[in-house]
This record gives sequence, C-alpha cells and structure tokens, in this order.
Amino acid sequence: LPVSLTVDPAFRVGPVRRRTFGSFVEHLGRCVYTGIHDPGHPTADEDGFRGDVIALTRELGISTVRYPGGNFVSGYRWEDGIGPRDQRPTRLDVAWHSSDPNLVGVDEFMRWTKKSGTEAMMAVNLGTRGIQEAMDLLEYCNVPGGTRLSDLRRANGAPDPYRVTMWCLGNEMDGPWQLGQMSAYEYGRLAARTAAGMRMIDPNIELVACGSSGVVMPTFGEWERIVLQEAYEQVDYISAHAYYWEEDGDLGSFLASAVDMDHFVESVTATADSVRAHKKVAKRVHISFDEWNVWYQDRAESRPPTGDDWPVAPVLLEDRYNVADAVVVGNLLISLLRHTDRVHSASLAQLVNAIAPIMTEPGGRSWRQTIFHPFAQASAFASGEVLRVAIEAPTYETAKFGDVPVADAVATWDAETGALALFAVNRSTTDTVEMTVDVRSLPGLTRVVDATSLSNPDHTWQATADDSTSVLPRTNPSVKLDSGTLTVEVPPVSWNTVRLG
Ligand code: AHR
Repeated sequence: LPVSLTVDPAFRVGPVRRRTFGSFVEHLGRCVYTGIHDPGHPTADEDGFRGDVIALTRELGISTVRYPGGNFVSGYRWEDGIGPRDQRPTRLDVAWHSSDPNLVGVDEFMRWTKKSGTEAMMAVNLGTRGIQEAMDLLEYCNVPGGTRLSDLRRANGAPDPYRVTMWCLGNEMDGPWQLGQMSAYEYGRLAARTAAGMRMIDPNIELVACGSSGVVMPTFGEWERIVLQEAYEQVDYISAHAYYWEEDGDLGSFLASAVDMDHFVESVTATADSVRAHKKVAKRVHISFDEWNVWYQDRAESRPPTGDDWPVAPVLLEDRYNVADAVVVGNLLISLLRHTDRVHSASLAQLVNAIAPIMTEPGGRSWRQTIFHPFAQASAFASGEVLRVAIEAPTYETAKFGDVPVADAVATWDAETGALALFAVNRSTTDTVEMTVDVRSLPGLTRVVDATSLSNPDHTWQATADDSTSVLPRTNPSVKLDSGTLTVEVPPVSWNTVRLG
C-alpha cells in the first residue's frame, strides 16, 4: 500500500516534553512488592530495591513516576509508610482486596526515584481523607525543616526537602469503584480548596485535577466542565485515563485505538478552553494523561481476590503483551506527542508487573515485554520540537471508528543537533506499506542514521522470561534517502522508527 508523508519544520506543534515519558508505580499486585522492592533479590540494594529493575527503568527512559496510586491512594494513610519499618502497620488495601505491610512508603519511594533518575509525581488521598492530610503530606515532603512534619522527615533520614513539584488531587473521583466517589461539583470544590491550601505551603507546585476515568464514562465532558468551573484558577492540569484492548477479536479497531485517544485529548482540550472563555482568563489548563496503556480488563488476572483472602502482593493485572499490543502502545505515543501543545504530562500505567513493560519473578529474573520497545525508542529518540506529519494513506473500515488510515506517524526535529526522528505504525494486518516521506524542507538531512521495525509474522507473539528477545526492533534494510525523499517499506502490524541526520 502506498502512503505519502510530508515532514516540514513549519508543522511545529510544540516542544518534546520529557514528562510525556512518565510512568506509574501503584501499590497494586506485584508492582511495588517483588516489583521495584524485593529485599531478597541478588541485585537488591540497602533499601531492598532491585538493581535490575532500576536498570530497566533507566533503559526505558522514564521521566516522572506517579505514586502511590491509582485506586489504592483513595484509602491510603501516608503516615503508615514512614518511620521504623518494624513499627509500621499492615493495612487493608480495599481497592485491590489485598494487605499492605507498608514496607515501602514516601521516604523509600523518594530514594527509589533518586536511584532511578526519575521525578516523583505524588498523589494525595481525596477519597477517604481531605485538605489537612494533603497539606500534611506536602509539609512532610517539601518544607525544609523547623516544623513537626518537616522535622519528622529529617529524623527519618531525609535532611533536604524532596521538593516534589507534581501533585495529583486524588484519583478517578468520577468512578463508582473509587473509594469516596463524588459528583463533579463536590469534587471540583474539594479540589479547589485542597489546591489552595497546598499552594499556601508551596506556591511552586503543579496540580492535577481528576478528569474522567475514560471517554466511556457517562459523565465524560460534563465532569471536566463542572470540575474546571470550580477549580480552574487553582489547578494546572486536568487528568485523562484510557486503556485499550482487543475486544472480541476486533484487531482492526484495536490497532486504531489512537483515534480514540486523539478524540479524548481534543474533547478535553475543547472543554477546558470553553471554561477558559467563560471565565475570561488568560491561563490555560493542560492535560496530564496520567494513565494510559493496553489493559485486558476482562482477563481473570484483573480480578482482585475476594472473601477473607487479603494477600500481600498477589498476582494482579499481569497482562502479557504481544506484538500488536506494542504497535498500539507505539501509536498511542504518536498521539500523545502530536498533542504536545496540550498534553504536558503522561504516565504509562504501570511500570512493573501490573500492566507493565517490565516483568519480574520474585527473587528471580526480570524481562522486557513487547511494549517496552516502542516506549524506550520514542523516549530515547524524540528531541527538540514535535512536528505534525501530513499523511495521505488508504483507509480501512473499523467497527468502532469507521474508516481510518492504514498508517499513522509523527516526527521530532532537533534544530540544534540537526536530527529528525520519524515514528510510524502500519495498522494493516495484511499489507506492507510503502512509505514515501517528503523531507525536502529540511535540506540539511543527508543520511539515514538508522531505521528499525518491530513486527512479526505472528502478531500474537508474546515475550516471556525464557524468550524475550526473538522479536525486537530490527534494522529495516529497505530505507533510502535520495534528494529529500525518504522511502521505506514497513511490514503489516508494525511499529517503526527512522532517524535522519
Ligand atoms: O492502573 C490500574 C488502575 O486503573 C488504577 O488504579 C486506577 O486509577 C485505574 O482505574
């Protein structure tokens, strides 16, 4: 199938933001315990953190890490997780029907971010708690000293304030599954008052109000409008959460999931701007897409334990990803990048074991899932400015989104280094796409640095602990650059990168 792309520095959307490449560590299943934290592991350090997971986190190119939830945060008492470990209580985690021994808390997590070279994005509990507890946690984290809670942090081994910048005001407060679910108006008021209190402690923080848990929520759109009507002046971001999976064998719609993400971002942007117009203010509220991924919610692994069984770190949400899932993840990254003017932060949910690019065996091996690779490549190669790519492509029909183009792409252009990176997917399940890319408006580009494709004749191939390397991004030998025209053949169901210099 022939596809024509045009890349032009005039199609600038905005800067590549490092925070687009964030992730998420929740006290959920084996994400924390036996995920990032596994004291008996051969690579564990003095805090019990797995060195192999830290190395993989660095390789993945993660920027921010949202913590400690997720649904978990709506019942969390942060004070349980500080001080001597042997005195910390084990608590029910009602969100995931588990027990939490509180061996990892805010101080351990902050040490982990330092070791992994990431930035903490903290969430406060607005489900069962409120303004005071949010302010207490902020005082503990960001006040240098001389007060009860800042001195407690110092006594707990952190003389310098953590100076956490990004704070989420609760989690998915629109969801009936959420502890303390509220109406949009109730939440908007609480978010505004909590934000105002927190800013009185630290005016430098950036605050995220909860948006909708998904576009399918019955309150989608209205929720954002009402929450922002109440909290526009006090917050910097509104969140968006989206998970996709192949439903009933409809691979065509699944591969086009980025169409839905585009719609999500554009709808929330329009809503935020409409509140802005109504309020007659200059400030813009941006989007924190702080949960996104492929998640097979209908699989048994997604169902928490029941009854009297409240296990510590059960196997939960441990999806195994295939090649098609990786192509979708790559396409979702393309969507996030092309909306860099309004999506200022994003978090791949999650980092380890629970719907994650990194898997571990307790005390044993760790490995990369298929979705690891598009994320790592995009994080490593995207730099400078994001350029929207003009695409002329044949379409195919989907049950969910109507006719969609067989290919999707975005580019980044670093004027300082003269590097162009093109990220593209082929959504066709049967045909190779012959891409012709017009790069004549970037005459300095003279050579192909590299071109890779991630694909497999069997798109259901999954990485395992025994074989995680048979399918990787491989050099694409078909690439050619001639007088400002790049050509490359990309296989069916593939994620592709081309770098020019
Ligand atoms: O990421 C898994 C869960 O999905 C999170 O806890 C919740 O916020 C969302 O529903």
